[in-house]
Amino acid sequence: MSSDTSTRPGNIVILTGAGISKESGLDTFRCADGIWSRVNLEDVATPEGFARDPELVHAFYNARREKLSDPAVQPNAAHAALARLEAEWPAEVLLVTQNIDDLHERAGSREIIHMHGELNKVRCQACEHLVVWPDALSLEHTCAGCGRKGTLRPHVVWFGEMPLEMERIYDALSQCSLFVSIGTSGQVYPAAGFVSHVRMYTRARTVELNLEPSTGATLFEEAFYGPASGVVPAFVERLLAGRS
Ligand code: APR
Repeated sequence: MSSDTSTRPGNIVILTGAGISKESGLDTFRCADGIWSRVNLEDVATPEGFARDPELVHAFYNARREKLSDPAVQPNAAHAALARLEAEWPAEVLLVTQNIDDLHERAGSREIIHMHGELNKVRCQACEHLVVWPDALSLEHTCAGCGRKGTLRPHVVWFGEMPLEMERIYDALSQCSLFVSIGTSGQVYPAAGFVSHVRMYTRARTVELNLEPSTGATLFEEAFYGPASGVVPAFVERLLAGRS
């Protein structure tokens, strides 16, 4: 079932995953050479792993922060196309990303929810004080909010924790005319369930843009496969021209 977006543009919700940042030089998680092929996710992406060995977890995120600040890592044509869509589309465009990098912001996107947190922020486990932190973090650092030492953790949602701003996300999903999923394997919930939510509660059109069919590929009405830097700008161009 398709919506009437060609005659009366409606709101768009876009979900992005690690695949959109791959061509910017950042690793995905589940590709053959992905992060989870080298590192045990229970060790670095769970509250239990952090409690067990905080220094290991800090080292993992410090390395990712350092990589993100590498001048070679820049937004690619897919990030730029989504910023253009937000600027030019006559209704609301909400970008929901599972990515903790800041490449969408650097490309110019403004309406964005980082449902899995942000690499360049840390927060205090004791007082919840949240602060921008692009540098290395260690147990020696002190929270500027409560003055305690060793309580800061990456502002990242780990497995077993609740993703951020879910109410706002489901509100937007329930009111959209188009849902587009980009560069995600569809293996991690709740994001993997967004397409089903949209299909159950709206008449919105659902589209997958990915390198290859994701786990939930059959749930989408339409799909375009290829590198994000190609398929995303092409899709946005057609959408803005009223041809898609
Ligand atoms: N263009 C488009 N898609 C690509 C590209 C590319 N250049 N390269 C890879 N992909 C696709 C892969 O085919 C895969 O389907 O991107 C997807 C990446 O999947 P994952 O590595 O599983 O990343 P993601 O879906 O974002 O992971 C979800 O899992 O570990 C957690 O918290 C982490 O946010 C992450 C979540």
